[in-house]
Amino acid sequence: MKTIAVLTSGGDAPGMNAAIRAVTRSALALGWQVYRIRHGYAGLIEGALEAFTARSVGGIIQQGGTVLGSARCPAFMTEAGRRQALRQLAQHGVDGLVVIGGNGSQAGAQALDAMGFPVVGVASTIDNDLVGSDVTIGVDTALNIALEAIDRLKITASSHNRAFLVEVMGRKCGYLALMAGVAGGAEFVVIPEIEITPEQIARELSEAYRRGKKHAIGVVAEGARSNAAVLAAYFHEHKDEAGFDLRVTTLGHVQRGGAPTAYDRILASRLGAAAVATLARGEHGVVCGIIASRLATTPLTEVVDKQKPISPELFELARVLEQ
Ligand code: F6P
Repeated sequence: MKTIAVLTSGGDAPGMNAAIRAVTRSALALGWQVYRIRHGYAGLIEGALEAFTARSVGGIIQQGGTVLGSARCPAFMTEAGRRQALRQLAQHGVDGLVVIGGNGSQAGAQALDAMGFPVVGVASTIDNDLVGSDVTIGVDTALNIALEAIDRLKITASSHNRAFLVEVMGRKCGYLALMAGVAGGAEFVVIPEIEITPEQIARELSEAYRRGKKHAIGVVAEGARSNAAVLAAYFHEHKDEAGFDLRVTTLGHVQRGGAPTAYDRILASRLGAAAVATLARGEHGVVCGIIASRLATTPLTEVVDKQKPISPELFELARVLEQ
């Protein structure tokens, strides 16, 4: 391998820049050439490739987002789109690709690798729903942002004897909500994996009110059937059921912004370097991640269209501690 390209795809995640930097500098250290691709697979199809140097990635490790830009690209889901991408890679003499992203991005990586072009993925999504890494790049930062919001909401909730529903991102995965609930001392968490009805939540809230709690925080995953909109509508109709006066805060994309934490910078640096080492030993069609605290590669065929399960033990812990 002599020339590789790197792209970021799907929802951006804090730490992606540290991964881009690690891929670039690790490859340059081997004497390889590196191309950056702008705006994910869309840029690849358009041929938005440009040579990167060690200086191109200077001063970015502390920045959130991705200096390459990111996109979701329906055209890449077609064979014609992928063939066009292969033509662009051939024209630039690229013989390996690193894809930094989550589930959809790794599905694209797998499809391209299956067409005979060596691709290695780097596990990066705030959702932490990707099989192949216990923790993905961006999760720690997103979690800390959610926690800061919860801590702040608790203060005003206490002053007004209110309950707050805090909706966090995560797509169909409840990891962010569950961890924010445990670390934020929430009164309840609502996650897609273990459904709970608005009536049950109302009961729990009124019991908490009767137990003399000054405030209540519920962390709700956006992918749960009883998401914040559903719960807000329910409590609008059943005002007195909760005991507490209730407000809803949706954190949304706020969780994806901001500087990456030390944990995310280190994880991204390790996974970016691991992706280059993987290509260097002739391995491809895999995603680089951390499993049981060790660097690991997992075949993309075992990653795509799967969802990492949440830990029932942590859900139980959240239930015990919420009293
Ligand atoms: O996958 C990351 C994520 O932030 C999800 O948590 C969320 O559902 C989705 O992306 C939002 O996508 P978009 O940025 O396209 O609105």
